[in-house]
Amino acid sequence: MRLENIFDLKGRTALVTGSSRGIGAAIAEGLAGAGAHIILHGAKPGATVAVQQRIVASGATADELAGDLSEAGAGRALIERAEAIAPVDILVINASAQINATLSALTPNDLAFQFAVNLGSTIDMLQSALPKMAARKWGRVVSIGSVNQLRPKSVVTAYAATKAAQHNLIQSQARDYARENVLLNTLAPGLVDTDRNAHRRDEDPEGWEEYVRTLNWMGRAGRPEEMVGAAVFLASQACSFMTGETIYLTGGY
Ligand SMILES: NC(=O)c1ccc[n+]([C@@H]2O[C@H](COP(=O)([O-])OP(=O)(O)OC[C@H]3O[C@@H](n4cnc5c(N)ncnc54)[C@H](OP(=O)(O)O)[C@@H]3O)[C@@H](O)[C@H]2O)c1
Repeated sequence: MRLENIFDLKGRTALVTGSSRGIGAAIAEGLAGAGAHIILHGAKPGATVAVQQRIVASGATADELAGDLSEAGAGRALIERAEAIAPVDILVINASAQINATLSALTPNDLAFQFAVNLGSTIDMLQSALPKMAARKWGRVVSIGSVNQLRPKSVVTAYAATKAAQHNLIQSQARDYARENVLLNTLAPGLVDTDRNAHRRDEDPEGWEEYVRTLNWMGRAGRPEEMVGAAVFLASQACSFMTGETIYLTGGY
């Protein structure tokens, strides 16, 4: 018997939100490397051009869509526009808003913005994408969570709460869609070196180094490409009996 490559994504289309840079870009390039056609997404038109060029140069294919996910209905519209390009087999919910503020410093606008991007658009996308995947009897949702969904730091109070709620949504939908071969899981990174935390690193390089050295067992931040292996697994046929779960990639925490 020939051993099938259970990580092969040829013939699949993956929509990766927030794939203009950071973890989303690395995951998009990783899924493309495994054979998937990629639909890239950034907040503004043109944000994903460089990533698209790298994917095409590697011999894979990618389309681009843009849209601000804080706007009402933007998640649903994004799925509809992606489906007009190709059936979305794999949805990576990666774009997120993170405002560093303790509870006492949190403004109503900070709260509304993080709720809209992290929860509102997630619900919107799931409402639109899951029935379509179910009708096709194959689907994978990879929701990018955070170690803060389990062990929240007070400086990211609202962001952490949205990540916990996002995983809760993934679990309830995993239960509802399990028999349709539509499997939903969370990939939860610890600290990863991206634009998101670059300002903290640049403002106080020594303090940052000390923080990172003691943050996890490996004593370093992760790199975006270190998220790719788990993402390909969760997006593939290799992940055929796992749903509603979380993979933590934290360097030991
Ligand atoms: N980096 C970490 O240490 C870390 C740790 C744990 C979890 N995470 C999670 O991992 C994911 C990726 O993080 P990252 O550090 O790679 O992020 P990043 O470098 O800040 O990139 C954010 C991405 O999301 C898009 N985005 C942001 N706000 C948006 C909006 N309102 N509408 C549409 N798109 C929007 C950005 O698009 P534009 O380029 O067009 O602005 C960009 O592609 C997030 O879910 C984050 O919560 C990150």
